[in-house]
Amino acid sequence: MRYDEVNGNTFYNGDCIAGARKHIPDDSVDLIITDPPYGINGDRLHQHYNRDERFVVGGYIEVPASEYGEFSREWVREAGRILRPGGSIYIVSGYTNLYHILHALRETGLREVNHIIWRYNFGVYTSRKYVSSHYHILYYEKPGGERTFNLESRYGTGEKTPDGRSPNYRDREDVWCINREYKPGQAKNKNELPMELLVKMLQYSSNEGDLVCDMFLGGFSTVRTAIGLNRRATGFEISEPIFDLRISELREIRPGYLLPSMRTPGREGPANRGKPWTDTDREILVSRFARLIESGETKKRAVEILGEELGRGRWAIEKMLKKTARLKCFPQSLDST
Ligand SMILES: C[S@@+](CC[C@H](N)C(=O)[O-])C[C@H]1O[C@@H](n2cnc3c(N)ncnc32)[C@H](O)[C@@H]1O
Repeated sequence: MRYDEVNGNTFYNGDCIAGARKHIPDDSVDLIITDPPYGINGDRLHQHYNRDERFVVGGYIEVPASEYGEFSREWVREAGRILRPGGSIYIVSGYTNLYHILHALRETGLREVNHIIWRYNFGVYTSRKYVSSHYHILYYEKPGGERTFNLESRYGTGEKTPDGRSPNYRDREDVWCINREYKPGQAKNKNELPMELLVKMLQYSSNEGDLVCDMFLGGFSTVRTAIGLNRRATGFEISEPIFDLRISELREIRPGYLLPSMRTPGREGPANRGKPWTDTDREILVSRFARLIESGETKKRAVEILGEELGRGRWAIEKMLKKTARLKCFPQSLDST
């Protein structure tokens, strides 16, 4: 299989199933982000999307609908094999063939973490039904190791917006509203994923130096963004013209070039966040909680007061109270908070 190396990263021009089998060892990849062909005649997508095709790079290889199930089973199996235990995979899918991918995932040992909905602009225009403007993103993990999830990589948990809300919480909701990129007059791949979407997955689910793989490179957007964030990258693209164009563009980018433009998360928050709990801390927590409840405070308010007194976040207080739930004073209903 033809391949090319850019800054120590190897990219293969060929089928990802045969290519992964031959070139990617078991348990070697930290993160897979991929956007397989949709099996809906994606090579003629302009008929569905009615858009200006002049700048769309030709050569996109589609998978016939009749072969989509078997095709999905094979590549998803390979993805599961090459992920390291604890590694994550994000699969972007439309709804038409989603069931094939879900079925393929069930045949592997991969475990669901979240089913994310990505809502985008420029939906498919319709007049006799609702406008379709979402994709599914299946976020799975390979059990057996620690999964990377960088909770504060984008927003500190203690940060607040001017109206008192938590941007960290909002950023982690499982409906993502991210616009597609409008690139007038520039070469683009069919369904090129926006960089904002890729940055988000990469920041939460990988660290600098990690190896990121895209089984279906298309416009190379995943690996371009991964390298921009100083990750290592690899992947496959079966189409020769697409591969040749994108590999030459990749040579122009500098590893880490995106890092200076990334937001620095606010670090302000409870003074003792992340510090291990001592036995004394736990005793104080339990006895103070009991006294606050006795004095007539609601459970919610008691947790808030304890957070202030002990310099911990609300979740940390609730989690520790649940751990010590054997105590009589502990409210069963806290489990439902
Ligand atoms: C939906 S596009 C990927 C778009 C990409 N995520 C981007 O942002 O530009 C799917 C790509 O997979 C390629 N492809 C189709 N079958 C393949 C296979 N068996 N192995 C590798 N690539 C394949 C297509 O040529 C197409 O470029």
